[in-house]
Amino acid sequence: MLFKLTDEQVMIQNMVREFSRKVVAPTAAERDKTREFPSDNFKQMGELGLMGMMVPEEFGGEAADAVSYVLALSEIAYSCASTSVVMSVQNSIVCESLNKFGTKKQKQEFLVPLASGEILGAFALTEPDAGSDPVSQTTTAVKDGDDYVINGTKRFITSGESSSVVLVTAKTDEAQAYRGISCFIVPKATPGLIVGHHEDKMGLRASDTTDLIFENCRVPAANILGKEGDGFKIAMSGLDSGRIGIAAQSLGVAQAAFDAAIKYAGKRKQFGVSITKHQAIRFQIADMATKIEAARQLTLSAASMKDRGEKFTREASMAKLFASEMVQEITAQAIQIHGGYGFTTDYPVERFYRDARVFTIYEGTSEIQRIVISNSVLKDKRKP
Ligand code: CAA
Repeated sequence: MLFKLTDEQVMIQNMVREFSRKVVAPTAAERDKTREFPSDNFKQMGELGLMGMMVPEEFGGEAADAVSYVLALSEIAYSCASTSVVMSVQNSIVCESLNKFGTKKQKQEFLVPLASGEILGAFALTEPDAGSDPVSQTTTAVKDGDDYVINGTKRFITSGESSSVVLVTAKTDEAQAYRGISCFIVPKATPGLIVGHHEDKMGLRASDTTDLIFENCRVPAANILGKEGDGFKIAMSGLDSGRIGIAAQSLGVAQAAFDAAIKYAGKRKQFGVSITKHQAIRFQIADMATKIEAARQLTLSAASMKDRGEKFTREASMAKLFASEMVQEITAQAIQIHGGYGFTTDYPVERFYRDARVFTIYEGTSEIQRIVISNSVLKDKRKP
């Protein structure tokens, strides 16, 4: 299926592109150096309706479709991947899970400020010894009267420091494996919720990634999201949407690296001519353009399946797998086209290369995507 965007989708894309290039891009390189969190970007992105794009208007969102969200997220990633990961976690996992599984009261209390961009959210599933296999997590939540008491450590949490509310998974029944995992909404100010170690990362340096430590952290039973035992499904369904988001991030960074490579190649002369006259460069440009377009079609197709209300788990994993692997190649090639200059911080391609490296890892490694895809293909024989 070849994609034709609606007028409204093109309008959103243009609006976010203009904002991203004017407001987000100018400080991205500096923030990468200083690791300064882009709080001012999020304030403006909230005002533009980018922090809870797919949330219904009654809960502070824009009621946008998933295709528009992909377009917007790619445009933000084009300028600053650090800003885009925060936008992705906020929209795809935090807001979406609250909207899908929350009660009206939970939505009013937590979703409204999140969707309007007043506050940021985090999603805490991973633990020091439970990454690809979240069922082996050891964080517990024990019922005590009208409360649950949470104990455990979560790791690699995007916006661990800067978020005001966390969706955390914890075991409520050890004997029940994935059916014994529940999900809780925990305001960051809750006593016993401590921000731990900050990771010093090779990329996405302006976004904070921390441990979150729960030490006898007491939350009201009313803060359970869904029912007891729904936590694994909530996480998996949030990750379906999250994976479309990572594919969109990959597209944005790949396009930025590609555009930078074209710009550089257009100016660089060797052997008396622009290097774009050399077939070695032209063929690389052709391959890069083709791969980016293929990833775009997969990503938009997964998003449009979501918009049509179809099951999109397999397609989200395909988009994430292909787009996140594609951006590794594109950013490496963009450096190659820049030659020695690409290896310096004088050009942005080294930052794109570092930022993109995690895309094949977080929200499910490429290996996990292959498990999801092959399970789906072997179980469900539907034709493409
Ligand atoms: N939506 C809803 N429910 C789902 C689902 C989905 N996509 N996938 C599975 N489930 C349900 C199944 O229906 C099943 O429930 P029932 O028995 O009631 O039907 C249950 O979950 C178990 O399903 P499986 O047996 O298929 O699950 P599994 O244990 O074999 O593992 C897995 C599945 C794909 C390997 C999974 O563990 C996985 O995705 N692992 C990777 C985790 C991950 O992506 N972590 C990233 C951390 S988050 C992050 O990076 C955030 C950030 O800050 C950027």
